[in-house]
Amino acid sequence: MSNVNSAVIEQMMAHQSIRKFTDDDVPQAMIDTIVAAGQAASSSSFVQVSSVIQVTDKAKRETLQAASGGQVYVGSCPVFLVFCADLKRNQAICAAQGIDMPTGFAEQALIASIDTALFAQNSMLAAESLGLGGVYIGGIRNQPQVVTQCLNLPDQVVPLFGMCLGYPAQDPGLKPRLPLAMVLHQDSYQDLDEQQLTSYNQVLSDYYQQRTKGKLDTNFSEHIEKTLNKEARPHMLGYLQDQGWFTK
Ligand SMILES: Cc1cc2nc3c(=O)[nH]c(=O)nc-3n(C[C@H](O)[C@H](O)[C@H](O)COP(=O)(O)O)c2cc1C
Repeated sequence: MSNVNSAVIEQMMAHQSIRKFTDDDVPQAMIDTIVAAGQAASSSSFVQVSSVIQVTDKAKRETLQAASGGQVYVGSCPVFLVFCADLKRNQAICAAQGIDMPTGFAEQALIASIDTALFAQNSMLAAESLGLGGVYIGGIRNQPQVVTQCLNLPDQVVPLFGMCLGYPAQDPGLKPRLPLAMVLHQDSYQDLDEQQLTSYNQVLSDYYQQRTKGKLDTNFSEHIEKTLNKEARPHMLGYLQDQGWFTK
């Protein structure tokens, strides 16, 4: 690592997903600030295609917990936000000007997803800088129709992921990332370097052993095989098309 540093970079490097929270309330002013900081992220062509739904209703939380594969922190965390890629608002803005906005383009779906992920990560970092912790919940895409109904999402609005936030009640430890040399390519794409992978596998194996007190004996290669050698939510294409996305 270089010795280039800043308070923001230190904050980023200290990131760890938090799944256990204290009972302390998070003031609404803090949540408002976190979402406003999210909004400050860059936006493709300044189209501002994101909406965030803060879910406080207990019954809705339970529905979302069940729809996310029963992840208990979805129901119990102090703050739960659902980040939606929202093309509906701009469609309505166009309609108010008598224009029927063309929809269904893959490029629009990419823009809305990219912008919303940038928005969310800005929010996560803002939350962490205020002493909160959190975790993304991609699990809401297990049952996107249920989420859509629960939150009354119209067509052209897609719930990408949730985010649990609160004051941390655990310190799970930093998860070591791939060596920079495997990620930062110079001038052209570099194929996988087996030696670097072998050494990273050892680093991650040590990490899992330590974090699980010896119970989890695995490494990155095994993790990738287990995670990616299966279908990836194949219902998503049909769902996205039902919402009016990916038709062109
Ligand atoms: C888009 C997205 C969706 C995720 N979904 C879940 C989830 O449903 N449940 C969960 O416990 N963690 C989820 N995570 C957290 C990852 O598992 C976590 O970021 C990763 O293991 C790295 O660990 P770290 O964040 O502690 O460094 C998600 C992360 C991202 C970026």
